[in-house]
Amino acid sequence: MTTPRKLFIKTYGCQMNVYDSERMAEALGASGYVGTDRAEDADMILLNTCHIREKAAEKVYSELGRLKPLKVARPDLKIGIAGCVAQAEGEEIMRRAPVVDLVVGPQTYHRLPAMEAKVRAGGRAVDTEFPAEDKFEHLPRGPRAKRGVTAFLTVQEGCDKFCAFCVVPYTRGAEVSRPAARLLSEARDLVARGVREITLLGQNVNGYHGEGPDGRSWTLARLVRELAGIDGLWRIRYTTSHPNDMSDDLIAAHGEVDVLMPYLHLPVQSGSDKILKAMNRKHSVAQYLALLDRLRTVRPDLALSGDFIVGFPGEEDADFEQTLSLVRAVGYHSAFSFKYSARPGTPAAERPVLPDTVLDARLQALQALITEQQRAAQQAMVGREVDVLFEKPGRMAGQMVGKSNYLHAVHATGADLTPGQLRRVRITASAPNSLAGIAV
Ligand code: SAH
Ligand code: SF4
Ligand code: F3S
Repeated sequence: MTTPRKLFIKTYGCQMNVYDSERMAEALGASGYVGTDRAEDADMILLNTCHIREKAAEKVYSELGRLKPLKVARPDLKIGIAGCVAQAEGEEIMRRAPVVDLVVGPQTYHRLPAMEAKVRAGGRAVDTEFPAEDKFEHLPRGPRAKRGVTAFLTVQEGCDKFCAFCVVPYTRGAEVSRPAARLLSEARDLVARGVREITLLGQNVNGYHGEGPDGRSWTLARLVRELAGIDGLWRIRYTTSHPNDMSDDLIAAHGEVDVLMPYLHLPVQSGSDKILKAMNRKHSVAQYLALLDRLRTVRPDLALSGDFIVGFPGEEDADFEQTLSLVRAVGYHSAFSFKYSARPGTPAAERPVLPDTVLDARLQALQALITEQQRAAQQAMVGREVDVLFEKPGRMAGQMVGKSNYLHAVHATGADLTPGQLRRVRITASAPNSLAGIAV
């Protein structure tokens, strides 16, 4: 028997890349690869890249610079670039970086085994097409990796929204929803392998409109209700959502489906109508707030999370103040905020940028407010009991780490705790990024 080749994948960016990396590993598993977490041992290194904010390509080139000595020492080592930078700048990477053997975009990685064979034979390979066939239907499946308690499941890809700042519609292509029957069987398979919580993924996951087994188009709410019927699947989450796709049936599902967790990541980007318009978000602040009201009516304990961009072209002090007011009005459980970064090829990239000092100051002010809210939200959990799904042992003896239904990280102690258990935990303390408690 030949020794298996080793594959090292480094993943950047969003959860969809995490999912894609798992699938690429499985696909190459069919060609005899096993995973390694040491780049030094690898026969193939894949960088699964992200293009969402600036310096994405620079990061790739500097990582390649670090990898070059490995390749010099072992010319047999193959290096590949996957993901959204590959899609955006694949040809350029091939030209600039001779250490790279292959470039594969997010929609063509089902062709990775064939590309691997080609580079093994001494060639180079680039594939950044948007193919007509569904990659998920054509992915070879090698031996499957051991699963943890939680898993991602990509149900929808791409984006047709074209927010003025965003590269996703260009790197991931048009919105495509996977057929519901495939997702149900993939979910059942995950649950059979021990998964208890599934997070449904999509760049616009709530825009899901895949074909149902009945031949009709299913909404995300329909899919969630169907998944909820799988025995042993205790928790469902989904991310990322666009406010304009929060349909009535999805809002209703939050009040009715008990395995749908009371946590929602619903980015709004700005609290200024003028900026929302300039961003092409196609909704107002009032509409966003009205939507949250409806959600909180059916699910009063819903924990909200969001994304914000500061310093979008044209953002004045007054606009930024409105973002702060919106954050104060909503009360986020957690939120992510980013300095605006001009992305080549997007409409906003043509507009004049604000000084970096302004961006820095606004980011700091916003993050201070968000941190304050996050701490307060966590502090409010102290003394309460929450359900925690345990994932792995903690650093201290007898300690187990898991997530609450509101997605807090919880460190708990108690008798007979094991990964995979869903237990009631009394929260006793709040640290900056986690809660501590005792299983009851
Ligand atoms: N589909 C999701 C967002 C995906 S990108 C949605 O519409 O909500 C994740 C986050 O990155 C965005 O919500 C936005 O806050 C941030 N982002 C995207 N492009 C950016 C840019 N050019 N500069 C700064 N932040 C950006
Ligand atoms: Fe990007 Fe907007 Fe699409 Fe989200 S909705 S992925 S921010 S274009
Ligand atoms: Fe990044 Fe591509 Fe995800 S640009 S955020 S890896 S969709």
